[in-house]
Amino acid sequence: MSKQLYIDGQAVSFEEGQTLMDAALAAGIYIPHLCHNPEFTPYGNCRLCTVKVNGRYAAACITPAQPDARVESNTSELQQQRQLLLQMLFVEGNHQCPACEKSGACQLQAVAYYCGMLAPALSHFYPRLAMDASHPEMVIDFNRCILCALCVRASEQADGKQVFSVSGRGGDARLRVNSASGKLADTDFSAADRAAHVCPTGAILHKHKGYEVPIGKRFYDQQPVSQVGDVTSRGSDEN
Ligand code: FES
Repeated sequence: MSKQLYIDGQAVSFEEGQTLMDAALAAGIYIPHLCHNPEFTPYGNCRLCTVKVNGRYAAACITPAQPDARVESNTSELQQQRQLLLQMLFVEGNHQCPACEKSGACQLQAVAYYCGMLAPALSHFYPRLAMDASHPEMVIDFNRCILCALCVRASEQADGKQVFSVSGRGGDARLRVNSASGKLADTDFSAADRAAHVCPTGAILHKHKGYEVPIGKRFYDQQPVSQVGDVTSRGSDEN
């Protein structure tokens, strides 16, 4: 039987076993998120979906929906905290939007716009990581990885492979390619894999397609992320 909770005062129905994010998405309520994609097991890593539930902080994508819960999401306090998280994400990697092939189809960029972040406010301090262009169809720029692990989960849960993993802790955490050489060319990764289409940033890109869709005509150039949803939930993440 369906139950009810309240998100920013709006009554929302949910089923037993759903998370707050599930309930919000089903009701058409946008809660900013980056590591969540309903196709895959929730990860709870980016913390962008943090809301307040009966006055306490909780990550919406991993918190079970409870009857009569009072959820706050669209408040200036939470939006400010999300902006701060985004500011940190932007300086922890090479997220120079005007120079990135993914601009306009990048979920990180789109969520930043939604949360009111228009320019970086902190100094960049990311290490320079080598790119992997060994694969004939795909290229990885590890400097743009936000460690959402969507590619890890997509490879395991949709493709039945284990092409990627995340290892290390804190500032040393890195996306790894699971091959003896550490190179993508030495895996069974394919451009047709689901994992090749779920990167929310420009970390995993398709070769030979650069700027196929012009800047200004891409997915998030048309509508904000709160209305159009996740580019990574579509069949293609490229425009
Ligand atoms: Fe919930 Fe990332 S979307 S923690």
